[in-house]
Amino acid sequence: EKGAYPHYMLKEIDEQPAVLRRLLQEYKGKTGSIAIDPAITRAISEADRLYIIACGTSYHAGLVGRQLIEQIAQIPTEVHISSEFSYNMPLLSKKPLFIFISQSGETADSRAVLVKVKKLGYPTLTLTNVEGSTLYREADYKMLLFAGPEIAVASTKAYTAQMAVLSFIAVAVAQGKGIKLDFDPVHELSLVAQAMERMIDEKALLKEAACDYLSVTRNAFYIGRGLDYYVCMEAALKLKEISYIQAEGFAGGELKHGTIALIEDGTPVLAFATQENVNNSIRNNVQEVTARGAHTAIISMEGVTAQPGDKIVLPKVHKSFTPLVSAIPLQLIAYYAALQHECDVDKPRNLAKSVTVE
Ligand code: M6R
Repeated sequence: EKGAYPHYMLKEIDEQPAVLRRLLQEYKGKTGSIAIDPAITRAISEADRLYIIACGTSYHAGLVGRQLIEQIAQIPTEVHISSEFSYNMPLLSKKPLFIFISQSGETADSRAVLVKVKKLGYPTLTLTNVEGSTLYREADYKMLLFAGPEIAVASTKAYTAQMAVLSFIAVAVAQGKGIKLDFDPVHELSLVAQAMERMIDEKALLKEAACDYLSVTRNAFYIGRGLDYYVCMEAALKLKEISYIQAEGFAGGELKHGTIALIEDGTPVLAFATQENVNNSIRNNVQEVTARGAHTAIISMEGVTAQPGDKIVLPKVHKSFTPLVSAIPLQLIAYYAALQHECDVDKPRNLAKSVTVE
């Protein structure tokens, strides 16, 4: 039930800090550190390459997950869109393991890949929010997202739960391999939950940003680099899906290779700049589009990348976990933009909650 909330989407956005805290409980080992099923850690450690398969928002969580798994657990990882992988399978490594990410566990495109790779005899792991769903039942290994029912068609809390569970995999496998972490993941993720809460409290600011940048436009760009680029892809999808504004998530450095031609007077360009190593370069990209008339805003991180004049400043969290916090403004901006455009937030046109056809 959505109770006092006007929309399920808003309720589900607000639930994210609680979901993350629940996940930290569910995946807590005896020593207080993160623990996952040892059989899963073993299977992943035995693989020479991981293949993450997913669609839509789950694919975007997979992109972030790949970076975490490669950086923290040091296992080569690829991410593929299910519907592409089905008929355009890359050359596989000798010992692959497949990770399926699916909120519903019923997505036909993902299931088609699962069936195919099982036939080839490869191990499979499903991350899903729905216990007993098809992808849950048919995979060798499974991990639950514990996000509670997600009713709004636009995925929000499942997205952050997916990124959190992928970070648990990265950490648990790293620990299993004896890799020393230079941070305490439980502590850092608790800080993420707090940071999410602080952003949820900034609804007035995010509503104002949606009003200011997105109320009259028919198109918009999100730009970022590294992890922020993946966040931009999700930000654009959310905006398209519920407000029908044509949006694109773009790698900052790629703009000058063509897309910058689309920038006109007043084109909204929102930049995520949470990563210190690319802060200067993304700000240069913002200047390039500002000079061509774009209506720009920077979303940065307190004490890391923030500079005077930035529109939205996120509380500081560990650099690997910034997408979990960025999720809140991107979702709320899309939500308020959809309201301004008088769209049916929870049930956008032409879309279904689970896509059970290929
Ligand atoms: O249930 P799944 O995670 O497999 O669904 C995948 C996509 O259909 C889904 O994420 C879709 O992109 C959402 N509506 C996005 O908000």
